[in-house]
Amino acid sequence: MNRTRTQVGIVGAGPAGLTLAHLLHRDGIDSVVVEDKSREYVEARVRAGVIEQGIVDLLTEAGAGERLVREGLVHHGIELQFDGERHRIPLSELAGGRAIVIYGQTELVKDLIRLRLDAGQPLHFEAADVSVHDLETERPLVRYRYEGSDEELDCDVIAGCDGFHGICRPSIPAGVLSEFSREYPFGWLGILAAVAPSNDELVYAHHERGFALLSLRSRERSRLYLQCRPDEDLAKWPDDRIWEELQTRLGIPGWRLAEGAILEKGVTGMRSYVCEPMRYGHLFLTGDAAHIVPPTGAKGLNLALHDVEVLADALVEWFRSGTTIGLDQYSDTCLRRVWRAEHFSWWMTRMLHRADDEDSFDLKLQLSQLRYVTTSHAAATSLAENYVGLETV
Ligand code: FAD
Ligand code: DHB
Repeated sequence: MNRTRTQVGIVGAGPAGLTLAHLLHRDGIDSVVVEDKSREYVEARVRAGVIEQGIVDLLTEAGAGERLVREGLVHHGIELQFDGERHRIPLSELAGGRAIVIYGQTELVKDLIRLRLDAGQPLHFEAADVSVHDLETERPLVRYRYEGSDEELDCDVIAGCDGFHGICRPSIPAGVLSEFSREYPFGWLGILAAVAPSNDELVYAHHERGFALLSLRSRERSRLYLQCRPDEDLAKWPDDRIWEELQTRLGIPGWRLAEGAILEKGVTGMRSYVCEPMRYGHLFLTGDAAHIVPPTGAKGLNLALHDVEVLADALVEWFRSGTTIGLDQYSDTCLRRVWRAEHFSWWMTRMLHRADDEDSFDLKLQLSQLRYVTTSHAAATSLAENYVGLETV
């Protein structure tokens, strides 16, 4: 058994774990990142693409935003489509000049991995049988197998950054956490396509056949989503059918979606979930390990990085001065923003998706809401400030 001592044991090398490791290293705090998948797998996992201005600023100030600022595409608005017409929400105009940046989560993860490895800091991919122990003590442990050896990491604190299906949250004894959740009767079928985006801004489309989203990853890559069943069988969706459905749902007179080779496709279920508190003893949960939002509104990645910003500040303060104030407030501070994003994502999802059991009353409410947010300055401002990310919550 190899024993290693570190200040912060970080479980999971997704955006949350990697950003936390980077922020801590910048402040002279040691950590070891333990990830159960391979580097190739983590770097290829296509997910989020919309980054709030505040998160861009966080990464830039931490020296992790160089390529993000160079290659990311700044967007100042989005479009909402319903009844066959598009309506622009001028985000920046309504939200004090703030914008969003389009930059793939895959690219951010690649940047953070490179920074970590260039700094010579430990990042263990393909760790097997990861488990966490002695969480209520001042010396919690992470155990795992790595390159054929049994490893034991002796930590001051553990950061559970291992996503929704990780092991950290389930290691908290039964009865400690309160859990809040909602399942949705639909999912998203997402594709990445080798074709220039057909619109300058994202289009969120309400359609009688279900929601569709036009997004992008770069000037040469489109990212598109279709509402589908949560257990949709991808085998029933040959490329032609996907394009035809996207043409129908996103179509407006005089405009056609440009098609190209499909590079990746996948189905994601949708759920809302929060556990409280986001802490147990010396284990702190961050990002998807503690909360999930449905993707409509693009909040998941942003929330994960807001959590680690709060946690990094609290840990730095604790290691420097011994004060536990920041750590004691960690969960409450994060949960305020988490619940705002939970509400916003639930609201956007309900406004734009078609439910199987939806009756004409629900449909009339959706259309009325869409008309309201696209005609009322107050309602559009509310959408805009939530979308670009609230400065204070
Ligand atoms: P994760 O990215 O899940 O990372 C957790 C890491 O822990 C993974 O690398 C995992 O392999 C590892 N791990 C798991 N179990 C273990 C274990 N036992 N031991 C060690 N390691 C482990 N969010 C946005 O903000 N904007 C968007 O536009 C957006 N679009 C999305 C589109 C889709 C299709 C999906 C699926 C999600 C989207 N999200 C979006 C959500 C966003 O991708 C997540 O919220 C984000 O990845 C959360 O980061 P995380 O680091 O907390 O968790
Ligand atoms: C993307 C995902 C979202 O959930 C969203 O609301 C906007 C864009 C995307 O992956 O590009």
